[in-house]
Amino acid sequence: MTSPTPARGPITCIPCKKEWLPAVALLHQQGITTGFLSRLGAPFLAALYGAIASSRWSRVFVALSDQQPVGFVACSIDTGRMYGNIILTKGLLFAALLLPNVLRISVLRNICETILYPVTHRAKEPPANPASAQMSNREPPKAELLSVAVDKQWQGRGVGKLLVAEMGRYFAERGVTRCKVVTLAKDETSNGFYRAAGFEFAGTFVHHGNEMCEYIKAIQPK
Ligand SMILES: CC(C)(COP(=O)(O)OP(=O)(O)OC[C@H]1O[C@@H](n2cnc3c(N)ncnc32)[C@H](O)[C@@H]1OP(=O)(O)O)[C@@H](O)C(=O)NCCC(=O)NCCS
Repeated sequence: MTSPTPARGPITCIPCKKEWLPAVALLHQQGITTGFLSRLGAPFLAALYGAIASSRWSRVFVALSDQQPVGFVACSIDTGRMYGNIILTKGLLFAALLLPNVLRISVLRNICETILYPVTHRAKEPPANPASAQMSNREPPKAELLSVAVDKQWQGRGVGKLLVAEMGRYFAERGVTRCKVVTLAKDETSNGFYRAAGFEFAGTFVHHGNEMCEYIKAIQPK
């Protein structure tokens, strides 16, 4: 997956299978270093993405080159329901995996805030341009891009955009018309990528003590 000269064969985006979960966990750990999830370890991340991939409310898509995952996107048609479903069906597994971390108050607070944020947050700053204002004045969409990462060797070749397009097809098939994504305001890479991938700025809010930007994307109907 991290060979110095990656093959240039075609990239295919497909739903994540169980055997790719360790690679997805590694892509998350290597690419998304700012969030607290990376600190919970590869086994936790593999279990989390397994749960997201198998929930009826969400999917994980991987970008494959020569049968090797070189990127992934995790997304949900309803993040609140997805967390509820995961807690109901796999709560005990996650409690066991989290036990060593739960004793750290800061981690416990981050976990609670993450699970509760679909119901507790609302982006605050109205955007300057009227088109964005029109999109953000409505209720924020329940559908969400949860995370995306591409192997460093493969970045800048359109893999991230392919994954977002695959997510868009999944949303369109389920009648989703808008989706959101939230990212750290200070992270230039993800803010630049989301804008380039068709997301429009919708406002900011504070989460885990950090300023976050919320973006909204219109989904092309099928
Ligand atoms: C963000 C990320 C997924 C982008 O993947 P990628 O495969 O490199 O992106 P693509 O090659 O498809 O680029 C798509 C567009 O995003 C833009 N983009 C990518 N990185 C960018 C950056 N650092 N700053 C500004 N724009 C950027 C590209 O210019 C391109 O725009 P264009 O189509 O107008 O030329 C990848 O850089 C990554 O894995 N980063 C680490 C993990 C991360 O930050 N995830 C997001 C938060 S969960």
